Amino acid sequence: MKVASPLVMLAMLTVSTQILAESAVKADAAKGQQIATQVCAGCHSADGNSVIPTNPILAGQHPEYTTKQLMNFKAQEGKPATRNSPIMGAMVAGLSPDDMKNIGAYYAQQTPKTTGAKDKSAAKLGEKVYRGGNIESNVPACASCHSPNGAGIPPVYPRIAGQHAEYTLAQLRAFRTESRANDANQVMHMIANHMTEKEMQAVSEFISGLR
Ligand code: HEC
Ligand code: HEC
Repeated sequence: MKVASPLVMLAMLTVSTQILAESAVKADAAKGQQIATQVCAGCHSADGNSVIPTNPILAGQHPEYTTKQLMNFKAQEGKPATRNSPIMGAMVAGLSPDDMKNIGAYYAQQTPKTTGAKDKSAAKLGEKVYRGGNIESNVPACASCHSPNGAGIPPVYPRIAGQHAEYTLAQLRAFRTESRANDANQVMHMIANHMTEKEMQAVSEFISGLR
């Protein structure tokens, strides 16, 4: 926490006020399941445990985080989407804010499965970065925000444990180039910007085996 605490405070402040303002209506997981089954299952699997490495596992994710991502994939009031994905941009075009809340509630209730890390030596270096960061290059420990077991801290810090390494690596690269710019106060941008490609690959491998 030593390196990260000012960042943590900033990120928490901005995002939590945003979420408070949005949480007036209660979510309906059964309605979310209908959409998930009809529209999303082909890529993310029926219970959100995607078996395709480029498509993220959604099962067990905090509901507020999933809802926020769905909002961020959509262009709002003439402004471009803060999270750029042609595929997901098309998927959310027809969803209302209530649909997004219901979908978040549905996936949060599903049990995440993990396949485990494939490259053990990469995972070893990755564990160092995950637990201790890199003091020399100013990379904070991932564990300080995403928790030691990768379960995250709702509502702001997502669950990342067991996620496909390919997807995690793609996100770190996207944060670095800011094609994904929906992280409050650029917290993930600053972190990814200080990481080497090797560290990103290693930490992604380690995270895929966390549970
Ligand atoms: C054609 C395949 C496809 C379909 C269908 C699809 N997705 Fe996705 N989804 C993806 C891909 C690929 C990504 C990663 C996008 C990126 O690189 O940022 C993604 C990312 C996401 C994320 C971000 C997860 C995270 O951890 O940040 C959410 C949430 C999501 N999808 C929900 C849905 C929902 C809900 C539906 C149905 C309405 C849906 N997806 C339909 C392919 C798909
Ligand atoms: C200071 C707090 C903080 C630290 C430290 C941190 N993160 Fe994050 N991370 C966040 C926040 C906040 C988000 C959510 C951004 C958003 O709202 O879309 C996030 C999102 C992510 C995502 C996207 C997850 C998804 O499902 O799309 C990945 C991957 C990630 N972080 C990996 C890491 C790794 C790897 C490290 C360590 C090198 C790390 N984070 C360190 C705060 C942090």
